[in-house]
Order: sequence, then structure tokens, then C-alpha cells
Amino acid sequence: MKKIVIAIDGFSSCGKSTMAKALARNVGYLYFDSGAMYRAVALYCLRNGLINGEQIDTEGLRAQLGNINITFEADPVTKNSITLLNGENVEHEIRSLEVSRLVSHVAALDFVRTEMVEQQRRMGKQKGIVMDGRDIGTTVFPDAELKIFVTASAEVRAQRRYDELKARGDNPDYNEILENVMERDRIDQTREVSPLKKADDALLLDNSNMTHAQQEAWLKEQFIAHTEC
Ligand code: CDP
Repeated sequence: MKKIVIAIDGFSSCGKSTMAKALARNVGYLYFDSGAMYRAVALYCLRNGLINGEQIDTEGLRAQLGNINITFEADPVTKNSITLLNGENVEHEIRSLEVSRLVSHVAALDFVRTEMVEQQRRMGKQKGIVMDGRDIGTTVFPDAELKIFVTASAEVRAQRRYDELKARGDNPDYNEILENVMERDRIDQTREVSPLKKADDALLLDNSNMTHAQQEAWLKEQFIAHTEC
């Protein structure tokens, strides 16, 4: 069976990472969360005084980008992918609402995207990977053999994110999350560099009314269809 690159793109909180992780595990591929990389850069900005009120100190960030080293590692117990920022496990911190509020602004900066895309391409060199994000099928791997574009209604997505934050012990506010989901959609779709859009050759998956099991079965089918020679 040939090894391929699988690109999963779509709107925020539509379950891309859950689906990408499950698919990678099922077929023995490596999983990469490109959004976690932008989140780690946003966290770095917050921690290093690169945010002034609502403004990002872009020149400061440009000068320090070389100091930001983002890697992934498997959790020894759960085997889930963990994001490391300069060697520190930041998996929990990068999912906070504070980071979510900032991340799309950071991800709209061209010099940040250039650097992240370069790192992402290196991760996919050997193929046999699943990567999720916003521009994986359009910019990072335009030649990916299997591209999926996922969507669901904003309300369904906000509810999913609410449940996720609640399950990890946070005290989320549904309306705040819905607002954040819609605002990130807007920024992601209207930014100049690599805006969020479906690649022409991507398969569209609206999972608003799909169970995890139905989704997994659908993905497996697509995987088989795209790896059989
Ligand atoms: O988990 P969720 O879908 O809510 O977001 P994420 O995948 O963690 O990505 C966080 C943010 O990073 C997105 O809202 C985008 O602004 C940005 N992003 C991007 O611009 N390009 C990517 N390939 C991945 C994420």
C-alpha cells in the first residue's frame, strides 16, 4: 500500500483534530496539528510581552521568531500528541480562551506563516502523515493525495468546544465561545495570506449530524480508496 499525505482542513472546532488523530492511529500514520503551532506562537507572544492591549508587536515577534522552537512528542501514557514550546509541554495552555482570542491574529502574519509552512513541509517529507489546519490542502501540501474539508454549523462547533473545555475542568461560557468561533472564522476566511478555503480537489464533509463512529467509517473508506494502487 502506498504512503500518502492526508490534509484535513476546515473551520474552527469542527472536530478536525479528533478525526485526524483517530485516522492516523487507525492507519499507523503520524499526526501533526498545525493549529497547535500557531497557538504556541500566540502563547509565546503572551508570555514575552509581545502584546500591547489588542496589538501584536510584529517587529518584536519577527525578531524573536527564530527563538521559537515547536515540536511534537507522544504522551508516554495516553500516546496522544503533545505540543512542546522550546521543550516545555504547553498542550494545556495553548487551548485556553486567551490564546484562542489571539491566535488568528498571529496566524494572519505573513512571516509567521512562511516559517510555520516551512516546518510543516519538513514534517511531511516522508509521507505517511495526517495534518490538520486551514491551509494544508491549499498551501502546505497542494499535492496531498487525500484532502478533506470539514464543516459544521457554528452552534454545533461552539457546543463541541464548550463540552471539551468543560470536560477538562474549565468553566466555559457558551456565548463567549460561539463569539470566538465566529470571529476566528471571519479572520481565517478574510486574511490575505492563505485564507481558509476548500481546495478544489478536497472532499467536503459536513459532520453536523454525524457520530464519531460514522465519521471514522467514512474516513477509513476514503483512505482505502486513495491508497489502493
Ligand atoms: O481547534 P481549532 O480548529 O479551533 O483551531 P486550531 O486548529 O487549533 O487553530 C487555531 C487557529 O490557528 C485557527 O483559528 C487559525 O486562525 C490558525 N491556523 C491557521 O491559520 N492555519 C493552520 N494551518 C492552522 C491553524
